[in-house]
Amino acid sequence: MTIKAVVFDAYGTLYDIQSVADITEDAFPGYGEIITQIWRIKQLEYTWLRSLMQRYQDFATVTRDSLAYTLRVLGLVHDAVAFERVIEKYLHLDLYPDAASALAALKPRKLAILSNGSPDMLDALVRNSGLDRLLDATISVDANRIFKPSPQAYALIGEKLGTSPDEVLFVSSNPWDVAGAKAFGLKVAWIERVTPEAMALACVENEVVAPLTMFKAIRTQMDELGFAPDHRVRSLAELPGIVARS
Ligand code: LAC
Repeated sequence: MTIKAVVFDAYGTLYDIQSVADITEDAFPGYGEIITQIWRIKQLEYTWLRSLMQRYQDFATVTRDSLAYTLRVLGLVHDAVAFERVIEKYLHLDLYPDAASALAALKPRKLAILSNGSPDMLDALVRNSGLDRLLDATISVDANRIFKPSPQAYALIGEKLGTSPDEVLFVSSNPWDVAGAKAFGLKVAWIERVTPEAMALACVENEVVAPLTMFKAIRTQMDELGFAPDHRVRSLAELPGIVARS
């Protein structure tokens, strides 16, 4: 089946979530890395917990709550100004260097984001990074009030783009998102932002496991959920070739 649309996860796939580390370090010297990692771990955990609890709150709220949790457990007393400065970075995350050129090379296929991000967060991020000029749609799971990897979240792609699941190549760096998208029936490319070789090396090289290594070990390597991606890529630049061969 020909691929009619390429749909991307946002955070960690097109946008580097680790790019909050400079701001967290600046706001809380000495704590930048641990804040960055606990914040993301808890942010995702809250999406899954809220989905299971059937107590949806949007990703903007979840992102604030997980940062509040992180600063509290680390005993970091702060004022609203410091908090807002850190949160604001989520609207200005760095694009991965391969993102814009890969999107441009995938035209004229339909290009979209499907993200847990709330519409306001995603619209600002996409506009601030200039991807609004390349994307046909920015789809937020908010429309169905449940987070990925719920099938109801992936179903929004077909509803918004008019595609069947096997006409879509979904691209994510997040292993749990790869498994969820495959379980739903999409074609899936996993962008290995952290290669298994680099991962294994980081673990043997460091006597004390750094928070970033810990994060990489639990959130960047393929999960044991019984679903494998159709394609594994190490740069988004490999996607146009995959799409052309489909
Ligand atoms: C996204 C995050 C969760 O959906 O990676 O963009």
